[in-house]
Amino acid sequence: MQLRIRSITYLAEDINGYELVDPNGHDLPRFAAGAHVGVRLGDAGREGVWRDYSLWNDPAERRRYCIAVLREGEGSRRLHDEIRVGDTVETTLPRNNFPLAEGAARHLLLAGGIGITPVMAMIAELKRRRVEFTLHYCTRSPEKTAFRDELDLLAAMGRVVFHYDGGDPAKGLDVAALLREPRPGTHLYYCGPAGLMAAAKAASAHWPADTVHCEYFKGPAAAPPARLEDDRPFVVRLAKSGGNYEVPPGETILDMLRRHGVETRSSCELGYCGACLTRYVEGEVDHRDPILNEAARKTHLLICCSRAKSAELVLDL
Ligand code: FES
Repeated sequence: MQLRIRSITYLAEDINGYELVDPNGHDLPRFAAGAHVGVRLGDAGREGVWRDYSLWNDPAERRRYCIAVLREGEGSRRLHDEIRVGDTVETTLPRNNFPLAEGAARHLLLAGGIGITPVMAMIAELKRRRVEFTLHYCTRSPEKTAFRDELDLLAAMGRVVFHYDGGDPAKGLDVAALLREPRPGTHLYYCGPAGLMAAAKAASAHWPADTVHCEYFKGPAAAPPARLEDDRPFVVRLAKSGGNYEVPPGETILDMLRRHGVETRSSCELGYCGACLTRYVEGEVDHRDPILNEAARKTHLLICCSRAKSAELVLDL
């Protein structure tokens, strides 16, 4: 989709908000809380550089998508430095790897830094559903805290707790203590920088798997190991288009499909963003991503990193 930048706002130090609208004023495709869109930045290569940004506005709004961009990394710097009000940008349709669970009694939200963005949309949705929630929001300082004014009222009601660590995580939220005793009926959602993701993952390891949800907006400090020594060749069959291709050791399914001219979508290519999520219909997958839960793994895989344990894998492509 081509969308116009209707406004750019200062949300916090180094964080800008971008409001995207249809150039002709039409409604936009619906999205659910937790969704993100890919935004194409520049012309590096045929497909450009795509970066995913979570939508933070109320999913009930049909006329705009709002993203928040931390000035970090080349693509996001380009948005800060080059994009102006009135420009158009190309985006994907919204995708959602981080949806709210239906029917949960209460929701515990944990956000770090720019990881607040999908959580803002969740809060709008949970308020509408009148479901109990608490947000713990970790940042370095009040100046670096986006949406502080919007959240102040909820903080006064005890539903939002700000944690400022001044740059020293040891002075911030004790994630292990917060997650030590899961309450029945509570679902946990977390999104933030690598340190918070690692802490939340470790601290929630004893929670029922289907009550824990997370979204990596950036890979952990180290990329997942290539595990080349574990790679075996296998065949990928495309159920719809009928292609039959071998994936050699050291090459991903995504790269192999590209090599054969099969259209694919990707963004991080490290197994963290979900852009390359693909359904499979036969075969046993060697899942190598850190983001899919057990239920998702039964039907889908991330083709930028996962491989097959079986000799053949049939994709719904
Ligand atoms: S491209 Fe990001 S998970 Fe595959």
